[in-house]
Amino acid sequence: MSKFELTKTKEWQKLAEFRNENQNLHIKDLFKDENRFKEFSIYDEELGLLFDFSKNIVTKETFKLLIDAAKAADIAGYAKKMFSGEKINRTENRAVLHTALRNQSGSPVYVDGKDVMPEINAVLDKMEKFSADLRSGKLTGATGKKFTDIINIGIGGSDLGPKMVCEALKYYGDASLNVHFVSNIDGADIYENLKKLNPETSFFIVASKTFTTLETISNALTARNWLVSKLGEKAVANHFAALSTNVEKVKEFGIDENNMFAFWDFVGGRYSLWSAIGLSIACFIGFDKFKELLSGAHYIDKHFLSAQYEKNIPIIMAVLGFWYNNFYGAQSYAVLPYSQYLHRFPAYLQQGDMESNGKTINFEGDRVDYQTGAIIWGEPGTNGQHSFYQLVHQGTKLIPSDFIGFVNPPQRVGDHHEKLMANFFAQTQVLAFGLTKEQAIENLLKTGASKEEIAMLAPHKVFEGGRPTNSILINYLTPKTLGALIALYEHKIFAQGALWRVNSFDQWGVELGKVLANTILPELSGKADNPHDASTKNLIKHFLKNKK
Ligand code: F6P
Repeated sequence: MSKFELTKTKEWQKLAEFRNENQNLHIKDLFKDENRFKEFSIYDEELGLLFDFSKNIVTKETFKLLIDAAKAADIAGYAKKMFSGEKINRTENRAVLHTALRNQSGSPVYVDGKDVMPEINAVLDKMEKFSADLRSGKLTGATGKKFTDIINIGIGGSDLGPKMVCEALKYYGDASLNVHFVSNIDGADIYENLKKLNPETSFFIVASKTFTTLETISNALTARNWLVSKLGEKAVANHFAALSTNVEKVKEFGIDENNMFAFWDFVGGRYSLWSAIGLSIACFIGFDKFKELLSGAHYIDKHFLSAQYEKNIPIIMAVLGFWYNNFYGAQSYAVLPYSQYLHRFPAYLQQGDMESNGKTINFEGDRVDYQTGAIIWGEPGTNGQHSFYQLVHQGTKLIPSDFIGFVNPPQRVGDHHEKLMANFFAQTQVLAFGLTKEQAIENLLKTGASKEEIAMLAPHKVFEGGRPTNSILINYLTPKTLGALIALYEHKIFAQGALWRVNSFDQWGVELGKVLANTILPELSGKADNPHDASTKNLIKHFLKNKK
């Protein structure tokens, strides 16, 4: 294939030129325009979702140039290919159809000439029945008792998505059902979970797309042995289900095919919470609410496909991230939910974004000569304010961020919510507008500080401002709005992959470590040679020498 040089395109060049010529552009200057908020915000009535992107270092001209870059990348055309089942995941020769899992339009979706919707709907029906039976107590354990605990055993996409959603929608969850998530191969994870559980009332969901993942299979075997030691071999049939694309491996493990919920290789692990992988969610919040989650995502799918570029929220989110990543040298991007319910959202997005766009090879197979995926991180507000915000406000690095908040909390606890949101608004304001030296001096004068003290303290009290933020303010946290929020980020990631011309749907980078771990494993019980570099060799030697 011919070499495509993204940085030589006229769109890239114009952005670079603009950035170069406007080194001192400050957000506060942009707000001299009284229409700024109106022009740089979008309100979606149906979701009650306000997306305010006015606090960015973006003029009307920059915005136009960024949209031109998005158009040149043909994000809309590429999206159509994804939605229509084209095999855009070329390195794995797969279609990318998490969108089909939530397709509630009634229209078919074809892969290799076959409509995949009947199978998707059949699995959804099976999930509906299973979750209803488990919640009602119709489905019981081997000794006839109602299940009180569900343990999802999975890792990566088979853990982070369902866990994040169960936390986010806890308010809607069945209070008589505890959902646990075991992911780490560190025995501490399964040990600490099992010790709290009663085998008679525990149901294990083994979630693994491939059903070969070391962590999941090891944890599942440990759970199986524990169950069998308490209730006997026969109990496995009543207490285990599998969510996987791999029927053979599920059978091999000994889980009844009737208790298997299938999905397909066109669903990437990090995009799989909409599939059978969401079974723990459906059990916890009920199938109707699970369907609402899907409907919110489907609503955003339609928006992504149909809204013009300038009004397309995921595309705007994508180009803004692109702007700071590639023209401001921003290495990271913070996601800051002002909602304790969303406390796992940044962790979930870390996989979603970094596993998708942490790539160096472009569509043509060449190494890119520009930055791709950002480092995603974050914690809920206001906790983050008391730990890392200092660096965001006054550090030397530019850290663009998304603030996510809700107008109405699911439940009212005194005036906590107003206090929470006052902080949200205050933070985005200070980040954008800062505090000048004159203002800092004025504040110090009010405290009665001496001239010397003011001279010494003032520079430390200055906030440069100009730190860009998006605000996503949603009227209510519901299954539907959560589904929409997740889909916004999924499509942002997709659009950035298109801008950077990388395949967002493979993850070869995590494979090598797995292979090497398997080679090293026998060495840790002294059953194999230790033929490594000096550091690895001596670390293993030390481990073996001190192992009890
Ligand atoms: O190693 C990374 C990864 O392949 C993720 O992409 C995936 O979500 C996770 O492992 C778990 O994989 P599986 O669902 O096949 O167990």
